[in-house]
Amino acid sequence: MTTRRIYLDYNASTPVDPAVSAMMKPFLTDHYGNPSSGHWASTGAKTAVETARSPVAAVLGCHNDEIVFTSGGSEANNLALKGVVFKLREEGDHIVTTSIEHPAILEPLRFLSRLGVRVTFLPVDAMGRVDPDDLRAALSPRTMLISIMHANNEVGTIQPIEECARIAREHGILFHTDAAQSVGKIPTDVNRLGVDLLSLAGHKLYAPKGVGALFIRRGISLEPLIHGAGHESGRRASTESALLAVGLGKACELARDLEAMDFVRALRDHFWVELQKRFGNSIALNGHPMHRLPNTLNVSFVGRIGAEIFGSKSDGCRDRRGYGCCPI
Ligand SMILES: Cc1ncc(COP(=O)(O)O)c(C=O)c1O
Repeated sequence: MTTRRIYLDYNASTPVDPAVSAMMKPFLTDHYGNPSSGHWASTGAKTAVETARSPVAAVLGCHNDEIVFTSGGSEANNLALKGVVFKLREEGDHIVTTSIEHPAILEPLRFLSRLGVRVTFLPVDAMGRVDPDDLRAALSPRTMLISIMHANNEVGTIQPIEECARIAREHGILFHTDAAQSVGKIPTDVNRLGVDLLSLAGHKLYAPKGVGALFIRRGISLEPLIHGAGHESGRRASTESALLAVGLGKACELARDLEAMDFVRALRDHFWVELQKRFGNSIALNGHPMHRLPNTLNVSFVGRIGAEIFGSKSDGCRDRRGYGCCPI
């Protein structure tokens, strides 16, 4: 049996868009100067980093000086969570989040709880949505931060961020959202969402791995995770990579066009219809039928675990490296 491989897991990672790699290429060879230097060799790199900040800010509807380049979504999340706690430790010791966050939120919170921070994990309903009333009930005068993901990486459920952020604002509490999965798929305007901090990850939106960004609303000051020279306006030390900034900038420029997502949604829905035709009641849709990322289809094969379906010898085949291929 021959197997044609189709890569569908764009929530795990995306390929680098050819337009992104074309923009990046000259920065591997030509613009090698340190963006922080004050001479001719730095000019190209410095200009490129600052130019690249604009499309990142544009996809979030914020100011350029509200964007800090990071090494990815995990670092952006760590900077948001630890940066708030270390900066505002006198003002609170409680964080509210959800039980379905990515490990890039759960693990820094586990670390912070070892330092004495109390963390409340809100439950979600059967479709993966948090109830804003549960959020309201969880708040205390010691709550310093709420962190709720914009869209879930597994089932794609989109959270009621506007409503949750409004509750945070009413109580004078900072609000962070992990938007690693939503940027480029659904609108992510920080002012519409009403968030103070937002993380994004380049490799989820056709930029390379190893680059991301944190939106930090003007007026909010975080303790840096990486202390050193004054890069990124003193918010993240380490010589900026013009190569990666340019890649993220181009990817964010492309990500502003959400029209392509209509086609992706149509393909996803077609796939779901075909699966239902073939498997009937033996499959079930996970996540929210409406409030869901347009690219995400997560199904359960009733009574069977994923590994069985993915790697079953009886149903499928194995490639040269022994990975199973499901012949759906
Ligand atoms: C929701 C979410 N947050 C954060 C991350 C981490 O991003 P990165 O791999 O860029 O560190 C991921 C990656 O899978 C993710 O899905």
